[in-house]
Amino acid sequence: MNGEPLQSVLHPAGADAEVVKQFAWVLFGAGALIFTAVLVLLALSLRRHDRPLRPVLWIAGGGVALPVLLLTALLGWSTWRSAQLVPQGSGKAMTISVTGKMWWWEVHYRDPASGREIATANEIRIPVGRTVYLGLNAADVIHSLWVPALAGKRDMIPGRVTGLTLRADKPGVYRGQCAEYCGTQHAHMALHVVALAPAEFDAWLAHQARPASVPAAELPARGRAVFLEQRCQACHTIRGVAESSRLGPDLTHVGSRLQIGAGLLRNHRGALAGWIADPQALKPGVFMPAASGLDGESLRALAAYLEHLQ
Ligand code: CUA
Repeated sequence: MNGEPLQSVLHPAGADAEVVKQFAWVLFGAGALIFTAVLVLLALSLRRHDRPLRPVLWIAGGGVALPVLLLTALLGWSTWRSAQLVPQGSGKAMTISVTGKMWWWEVHYRDPASGREIATANEIRIPVGRTVYLGLNAADVIHSLWVPALAGKRDMIPGRVTGLTLRADKPGVYRGQCAEYCGTQHAHMALHVVALAPAEFDAWLAHQARPASVPAAELPARGRAVFLEQRCQACHTIRGVAESSRLGPDLTHVGSRLQIGAGLLRNHRGALAGWIADPQALKPGVFMPAASGLDGESLRALAAYLEHLQ
């Protein structure tokens, strides 16, 4: 997990992304070769304009036969390779539902133990080597899920469920991005896919299924009270504390996430405090209002509490 997580088609870590990378290189290579050949022929023809050419041969050969052969070969190859993509559909795959919202991602798992839904945000953890079906939906406008190192894009459309089946082959953190313009903060609608070893994933999911832990230390305990006083629960759920609203991201285990604000800031106490104090300065247009009237000590406590929610 060193450095910035990869967001690159050219560094695949999943079955489908490998195919996409091959497509990119083969089509780019073939295109470059043909383009170069045409330019060489053009240069030759300009130099040797005195020589009689055989136009019929060039037109029939270069204009008809060659493209037919090359394009048929490329079509045949890409059709054969496409058939090896991970089969789309929920089938036996593990299902995770992802809803695109302005401008974040709500992620739902089903707890295999209790059957209850577990909500998290802006981070999709998946087990390496297992086929995962992402059921996609949008709450407001069209978004598009794209994690280049793992798979192709899929649009998320309000009122309709689309899906993307993928498989990660290497553990790691892969950055993804909304790929459909969805308003002022479209550029700040990122997410991270964390591919974990299956046992690690199962442990993570079991932990996520638990309600929020109750802080023992004084500062985070004070922060828990501030959360309720400030009526943060009007938008945010913390399971075990307040579960009335799902307008904003579920914060039950917010402290365990890598980033906040949908890929805006690395998650730590200072970033949490800055975000709560003035989200509009960090991500103008976001629906979260600034915590006006919150004194420094309360802000510090609230940030400590959120960090405590591992
Ligand atoms: Cu969501 Cu662009």
